[in-house]
Amino acid sequence: NELPEPTIIHWHGLLMPAAMDGHPRNAISPGQHFRYEFEVQNRAGTYWFHAHPDGRTGAQIYFGQAGFLTVGDEEEAALKLPEGAYDVPLMIQDRKVNGDNQFAYLSQPAGGMMGRGGMMKSAMMGDGGMDDMMARMMGFLGDQILVNGRPDFVLPVATRAYRLRLLNASNARIYKLAWNDGSPLTVIGTDGGLLETPLLRRYVTLAPAERIDVWADFSHQPLGTRMTLESREFAGDISMGGMMGNTELPMGARFPVLNVRVTQHSDASNVLPMHMAQVPAVRPQEAVNFSRPRVFSITMGMMTWGIDGRRFEMDSVTASETVRRETTEIWEFRNEASMMLMAHSMHVHGVQFRVLKRTVATEFSRARDSVAGGYVDEGWKDTVLIMPGERIRLLLRFGGYTGTFLYHCHMLEHEDSGLMRNYLIRA
Ligand code: C2O
Ligand code: CU
Repeated sequence: NELPEPTIIHWHGLLMPAAMDGHPRNAISPGQHFRYEFEVQNRAGTYWFHAHPDGRTGAQIYFGQAGFLTVGDEEEAALKLPEGAYDVPLMIQDRKVNGDNQFAYLSQPAGGMMGRGGMMKSAMMGDGGMDDMMARMMGFLGDQILVNGRPDFVLPVATRAYRLRLLNASNARIYKLAWNDGSPLTVIGTDGGLLETPLLRRYVTLAPAERIDVWADFSHQPLGTRMTLESREFAGDISMGGMMGNTELPMGARFPVLNVRVTQHSDASNVLPMHMAQVPAVRPQEAVNFSRPRVFSITMGMMTWGIDGRRFEMDSVTASETVRRETTEIWEFRNEASMMLMAHSMHVHGVQFRVLKRTVATEFSRARDSVAGGYVDEGWKDTVLIMPGERIRLLLRFGGYTGTFLYHCHMLEHEDSGLMRNYLIRA
């Protein structure tokens, strides 16, 4: 750790022993080192890694502690999908840049690492004032979109097929991704790897930490063609109570994300396979709690986020957060109980899960419907967007590793301010 503060790395989406998973309790001090040792067990897919220290995950990812970790396997190799230069990881992030051309984030809480408890106080003491305090609670939005760290990103392509691996590594921003010419996106993979068959979507909704693999075939495009992958309008602000409007680029605005330029001729012919992978059917009846799903409500009280009224505590875990290893459960997240309803991006460590169903309260259906056409709930997932008024049921199969893992909102300011809990996998 050559940072001036504690850190630890989490391998987002990978299955591994609790001690290797990057829990904040394993954070190491400046100058210390931590040796990770684990076997990659996941199927082929687009995973990533990022810092995960207590209360500083948002800041550290914002300033660069995040990267891709892609996994391959034989099932995928047999498909002969585009490889090498034609398999392009694209990390999408929004940033704010100050007058010195440096990334601007929330002001550091007074006392440096005092973490969540001290944040409100320091904001009130006038560090960054009211805006700072709101962003600390609601989520931080930048007004410049970076792809792989670059603004105005241009991807030069040849007239052939590409695999684009899109990762939303933004702190809090949700994207509604679509080609500007109106052609649909061909989705081939989700968080946990390839889908059974490709899916067409007019747009794809990508919440923080979600990934999507897209097949993009430029073989019929004349040289010189320009295309833009843009983020479309959605009812982003309705749920945010207008409080995330405090940026040039409010949540739900329309803007370009990246540009494609067809610059080269190619004769390569990649064929999109119609059957890509074995994805088992979802069998909710296998859940040990089939008739009584475990319910988790996102809450806010005393200006801090939580789950069922509890905020993150380093070591505590309740009976309702304890599961048995090698069992299947249904979990239901509800986004309806907090006094301030916002979208959240719920992530569970230690598993890849399946989405069983979603429902939304009628009074919130307008905002939900403005993004729901872009949900890709078909494959393996580790992170899901849950809009205001929405309930989502997941089917999770816990593996053989015991110990405490995390589940939390991946909007990093929410996570850092308490919307995270431990759950225990016991023998
Ligand atoms: Cu990518 Cu605990 O998160
Ligand atoms: Cu959240």
